[in-house]
Amino acid sequence: MRKLLVTGGAGFIGSAFIRLTLAEDPSVHIVNLDKLTYAGNLENLETVVHSTNYRFVHGDVCDEALVDAVFRDEQPDAIVHFAAESHVDRSIFAPSPVFETNLRGTFTLLEAARRHRIARYLQVSTDEVYGSLDTPLEAGEDFPLNPSSPYSASKAGADLLARSYFLTYKLPVIITRASNNYGPYHFPEKLIPLMISNALEDRPLPVYGDGMQVRDWLFVDDHCRGIRAALEHGRAGEIYNIGGNLSLPNLEVIRRILRATGKPDSLIQYVTDRPGHDRRYALSSEKLQRETGWEPQVAFDDGLALTVDWYRRHSAWVARVRSGEYLTYYARNYENRDELRTVIDARSD
Ligand code: NAD
Ligand code: DAU
Repeated sequence: MRKLLVTGGAGFIGSAFIRLTLAEDPSVHIVNLDKLTYAGNLENLETVVHSTNYRFVHGDVCDEALVDAVFRDEQPDAIVHFAAESHVDRSIFAPSPVFETNLRGTFTLLEAARRHRIARYLQVSTDEVYGSLDTPLEAGEDFPLNPSSPYSASKAGADLLARSYFLTYKLPVIITRASNNYGPYHFPEKLIPLMISNALEDRPLPVYGDGMQVRDWLFVDDHCRGIRAALEHGRAGEIYNIGGNLSLPNLEVIRRILRATGKPDSLIQYVTDRPGHDRRYALSSEKLQRETGWEPQVAFDDGLALTVDWYRRHSAWVARVRSGEYLTYYARNYENRDELRTVIDARSD
């Protein structure tokens, strides 16, 4: 692919994708369209910002005129659509921006891609669309959609929209569904970066419910390589799961973080559970492996050690990110958590 339009490239995974792609393929040109919400951070792209084959456009994927102008001016060969409101807890407190960006944003991009006859449209999706799975089930790509949160419902809706553009308009759409990512530059609202940065500052580690919820962990660069494999070698109209082949209960992940940071178990603090909390995710990535040869390369303990080391060395990045709006979010999500149910029930009356 000669020119890629990447949306949400200032976020955690989008920025990793841009750094990795420019490093592995100097012939590619990347245009990054990002609104710079609380989760977008141009510091994540400092190593590529002066590259002649990289350009940043500040804007909203829901802005039809802007999106159309970007397609017209840049004439990308392919789009990789990361931009989203990505956090489940925020989607519970404030669903509106989630549906706006994740559904209207996807629709706006699909329409532009159709008008401009784009050669590849890759929708970055999630294993959360399959919902909670009983042991020992693993979701394949044809597993029923059963989302639980406003976030995962919006992602499932976006997947269906994207798929309809393939079936109806023959737009060459590919959907990838990944499991829980972790790695450097991860916004410290998500489990692993939150627990690492709290542990490094000797703050409590808030565990939702009994902490026995299971997630499949995938190092972010392995996810990005999977997306690149699907983009280059995947078949139009197909869905590809991308998982790390490692399911762990949250408490086990937290204990490994405590060991890696040298902090005591006494930092663990059990708090009121997340409403609608999915108990277990598990997925099979056999299809992507079989069709493209991709497989995850980073073992969890290696990836975790590397990530802990990154957070130790980037305390200034963490301090900047954990200021301003983050403090309001943190207080709302973690203080008076026992009242969470009441607050949510009251709002829905
Ligand atoms: P993130 O929250 O770190 O970054 C999201 C980025 O999108 C930010 O840079 C933000 O500024 C931008 N953005 C948000 N709304 C926008 C809008 N309206 N217009 C333009 N830009 C906008 O998210 P992430 O964790 O990097 O996730 C990226 C994608 O991968 C999302 O689609 C998410 O659903 C999906 N995904 C994430 C994970 C995970 O574990 N984090 C796993 C599977 C799939
Ligand atoms: O599965 C892929 C999904 O993974 C992505 O689509 C989402 O964008 C991403 O945010 C992530 O969703 P989760 O809800 O699984 O991730 P989160 O890091 O928020 O939580 C992981 C688990 O840890 C989950 O069971 C909730 C629990 N948790 C989380 C936080 C923030 C806690 O126990 N305490 C916490 O403070």
